[in-house]
Amino acid sequence: MRGWGAAGPSLALIKYWGKASAEANTPATGSLAVTLGALESRTEAAFDDRDSVVVNGAEQPLERFSSFLGALKRELGLEGRGLAVTSANNFPTAAGLASSSSGFAALAGAAAALAGAQLPAAKLSALARLGSGSATRSVYGGFTVFDAGAEAADVEQGEDHWPDFRVVLCVVREAAKATSSRRAMEFSRATSPYYGRWVETSPAVLAEARLALAACDWSRLGPLIRQSYLRMFSTMFTAAPPLIYWQPESLALIHELQTLRDEGFTAWETMDAGPQVKVFCPADQVDAVVARLAAKVPGARFLTAAPGPGLRSGIVP
Ligand code: DP6
Repeated sequence: MRGWGAAGPSLALIKYWGKASAEANTPATGSLAVTLGALESRTEAAFDDRDSVVVNGAEQPLERFSSFLGALKRELGLEGRGLAVTSANNFPTAAGLASSSSGFAALAGAAAALAGAQLPAAKLSALARLGSGSATRSVYGGFTVFDAGAEAADVEQGEDHWPDFRVVLCVVREAAKATSSRRAMEFSRATSPYYGRWVETSPAVLAEARLALAACDWSRLGPLIRQSYLRMFSTMFTAAPPLIYWQPESLALIHELQTLRDEGFTAWETMDAGPQVKVFCPADQVDAVVARLAAKVPGARFLTAAPGPGLRSGIVP
């Protein structure tokens, strides 16, 4: 018997960066995110003699997974059993496209299905959090909020709230990142003199962004999206030693997007712990935006997504 779970990546408009409690993996800053459709992690879990995790065909070192697998087993009454986990992403893994969000949410769903547990979404969201903070949000579709200090995320707006909302993912480098977001945010907290201000100023940005999202207002939401990721990166640039995920191609895209906005486009970018640039814009601007960005960075690959569904799970027939 095998349990399966499938979930889309959760891309934050307003960022979670830093922990309220490292032990509980609760966030220091609240985040507002969109769960992407079309991109997904699909994970299966089966009982075995020992634990193992295979992602896209490659066996993974267990250290990143063992505490999560232990917590899952405790919560689901599966202590003493080994779990063989296989997962595949239909998008680049560990390249800053939020694969840990979809991967851990899908795994929580697969393990719960295998255990025969009918858990409410809030419980699955809290379980997924033990794997990765962003996975807490991937359990829900549409637009999600994950408050500072919270144990679970929640739906902020449904999948159909903003029909012409699109995300263009600009993959400038496909290599896996060198430093995980988990390590990078802890490093920012421990060494950046600006980390405290980042945490203090985040609630106001989140509150305003929730209102702008409710109103589907690009001109209010866009500058807040930008402010959130640039402030987040400020804690990395000012860490000791500094942490710089950006590549020349990332910066070329950031500048081109400013040019596009100056011309009247409503295309607003964000970035995560990697060199990729993610752009939010209305559906009718996607083709023109991609054409302009592709001309600036000819080697880049572009993927387009709309808000998608939350976690799906079941037993493999
Ligand atoms: C930059 O969720 O990967 O993507 O909780 O330590 O697993 P852990 O961190 P993770 O961090 C996500 C950081 C981010 C911003 C965001 O998704 O809100």
